[in-house]
Amino acid sequence: MFNTNTINRFQQLETPFYYYDLDVLRKTLEACTGASAKYGFHVHYAMKANFNPKVLDTIQSFGLGADCVSGNEVKAAIEHGFGKEKVVFAGVGKSDKEINLALDADIFCFNAESVQELHIINDLAKAKNKKANIAIRINPNVDAHTHHFITTGLDENKFGINTWQLTDVADALRNCPNLQFLGIHFHIGSQITDMEVYKNLCTRINEIQDWFNDRGFEVKVLNTGGGLGVDYHNPDTNGVSDFESYFKVFKDFLNVKPGQEVHFELGRALVAQSAALISRVLYVKNGIKKNFLVLDAGMTELIRPMLYQAYHQIENLSRRESESLEVRKSESKELEVSHHSPLTTHYDVVGPICESTDCFRKDVELPQSFRGDLIAIRTSGAYGEVMASGYNLRDRVGSVYSE
Ligand code: LLP
Repeated sequence: MFNTNTINRFQQLETPFYYYDLDVLRKTLEACTGASAKYGFHVHYAMKANFNPKVLDTIQSFGLGADCVSGNEVKAAIEHGFGKEKVVFAGVGKSDKEINLALDADIFCFNAESVQELHIINDLAKAKNKKANIAIRINPNVDAHTHHFITTGLDENKFGINTWQLTDVADALRNCPNLQFLGIHFHIGSQITDMEVYKNLCTRINEIQDWFNDRGFEVKVLNTGGGLGVDYHNPDTNGVSDFESYFKVFKDFLNVKPGQEVHFELGRALVAQSAALISRVLYVKNGIKKNFLVLDAGMTELIRPMLYQAYHQIENLSRRESESLEVRKSESKELEVSHHSPLTTHYDVVGPICESTDCFRKDVELPQSFRGDLIAIRTSGAYGEVMASGYNLRDRVGSVYSE
């Protein structure tokens, strides 16, 4: 991801910023679209993972649809050229304003998350003399075996409609003339790496599909959601998720009827590896018990480690063997001396925010590091820039592209 030229370029730039490697993004998109096309599967990009304009334009150019969770995402998807016939709108709390916006935009489908929501969409569609396409988001009670903060498909989660409410759903669909039932939708969690989880999901989808068929509903679309994980530990050697195995599970275990469409909503697996958060060391605090590297990026730029105990690989770009010559040429005398030291040190890598939780990771082994060193926090393309905040009245984090 970083060659000498890239790192030299970083030296000139104000940090922190997200660095997007568009080649990595395209390589990932090629792998995904190649693997899904084999089975005629449709992929919607879950925009919540990253709505950086260049990222959106690149993904749109590969012909994906868009999975949106707010009115503004619906608007942005259409502005970035995602065809309205490929836009789906999910979310447990869609406001009337957002539903109206999506109705006006004639999107492909609403993924409805409660019986009450079905009635509201019906009323709002009626007022516009329209029919809204609906998929029912069902909570299948399938364990995603991922961090509990990013698990969504268990009975205890707020998402989707529980299976014991399906009779009410069927009644609502029969009594709402401004709804057009299209299919069923699921999303059980994120950063899923165990393919057994998806097999279990397929089994539940097959059962629920039968339930609808038995009651006279034709299920045109099976939407299995997203959640495919990435390798946060090996971004260079395992940089593209195994889309082949992922889609094959659904090919093998999902009961797809003739003419039926199978849809996916991938976010993280498409964008995570294409970006790194680049920052500089502001201060090195050496203590008796601890050494701290204080960066100019913190939880305001990347909150995943603080919110989900998420692992991200941390690299000192100024102390890489291959880069050391260039670094020595361009850096101060103090750093030149340090280069000759082969020592590594354990650091708690922390941000500048006034919160103890503002720590990217404790006890990280890094080459001995110095003020001004460039630090990369890898695999930050998903739920990174988009979850940045202005806490402490911080500047908005920048974005830099490989081209
Ligand atoms: N579809 C629905 C309905 C979703 O709620 C999500 C993610 C996705 C698709 C895309 O999931 P993905 O393929 O990206 O796993 N901020 C957390 C992740 C939250 C995921 C929310 N929903 C994190 O940084 O790990």
